[in-house]
Amino acid sequence: MSTVTTSAQKTINTWPNYTYEDALAASEQVNWRVEDLIGGDKRLDFSKPFMPESLARVEALDFLSPRERLVLNQIRGHDYLYIFGLVEEFILPFVLDHARQKLQGNDARVRAFLNFAGEEAKHIDLFKRFRRDFLESFRTECEVIGPPEAVAQAVLSKHPLAVALVILHIEWMTQRHYLDSVARNQDLDPQFKSLLKHHWMEEAQHAKLDTLMVQAISDACSPAEREQAIDGYLEIGGVIDAGLMQQVKFDFESLKRATGRTFTTEEADRYFAVQQQATRWTFLGSGMSHKNFLATTELLNPGSAARLEGIAPMFS
Ligand SMILES: [Fe+2]
Ligand SMILES: [Fe+2]
Repeated sequence: MSTVTTSAQKTINTWPNYTYEDALAASEQVNWRVEDLIGGDKRLDFSKPFMPESLARVEALDFLSPRERLVLNQIRGHDYLYIFGLVEEFILPFVLDHARQKLQGNDARVRAFLNFAGEEAKHIDLFKRFRRDFLESFRTECEVIGPPEAVAQAVLSKHPLAVALVILHIEWMTQRHYLDSVARNQDLDPQFKSLLKHHWMEEAQHAKLDTLMVQAISDACSPAEREQAIDGYLEIGGVIDAGLMQQVKFDFESLKRATGRTFTTEEADRYFAVQQQATRWTFLGSGMSHKNFLATTELLNPGSAARLEGIAPMFS
């Protein structure tokens, strides 16, 4: 058993002490506006990368010129805008449904979840507006997976505890992206970096509220349902992975269109090997292996942290 699992099991054998009151107070302090981040003279700067290299992994593709690597980094930035917008489309109705189940008795709970939902609606708008700015300047078509409504329908058809785990994965993943790869990065386009920072500032509360949501849903479940929720989480991960692998193919075509470049078979093989894993790490591995996410799965079903830690390297 690896270190993370051992520490998760040893240090967190009870639910963390998050409260609705604390999450609500933090949320009210953050509270930024989309207009403060994009629009008017606030535009993306295409002379700079949008994504940190740990997520984009373009430098390993040494057969690409520096300019082509920069374009690929920006295409991956466009993916990030689109895919986050896409997942927020199923997070929003799920959180609203959860809030609605108990509208009396705990005002802080209701207000914290309504702020959570309002912030996710704002994030959908934020990602769309950044994407619009991107497409206005990039000018080459960037095909994307979806539509978001179909993905939302497929995900929301699963057991609520499995869906809540997927959402928890996404919330911790967002924080990891910012703290590990963006906060101290001085190379990124300032506007894109600002998007990642402001998103992280609100997701910090969401991760805690999601943990409370997972706890509340699991309290009403049997041990068998909790175990099955881990399977359900992995099934949804499989659906998302299939979509991501299609997105890598679309990105390859976008790169060819934007640069006019052709690839040898060896170069294309290398491209896919690197970019498939980069995309998997960005959206799957970095969430699945987050220590707080693993600790929650362990609380639901002992042995799950080790199980997921055994799977995560496929997405690294
Ligand atoms: Fe969000
Ligand atoms: Fe969120």
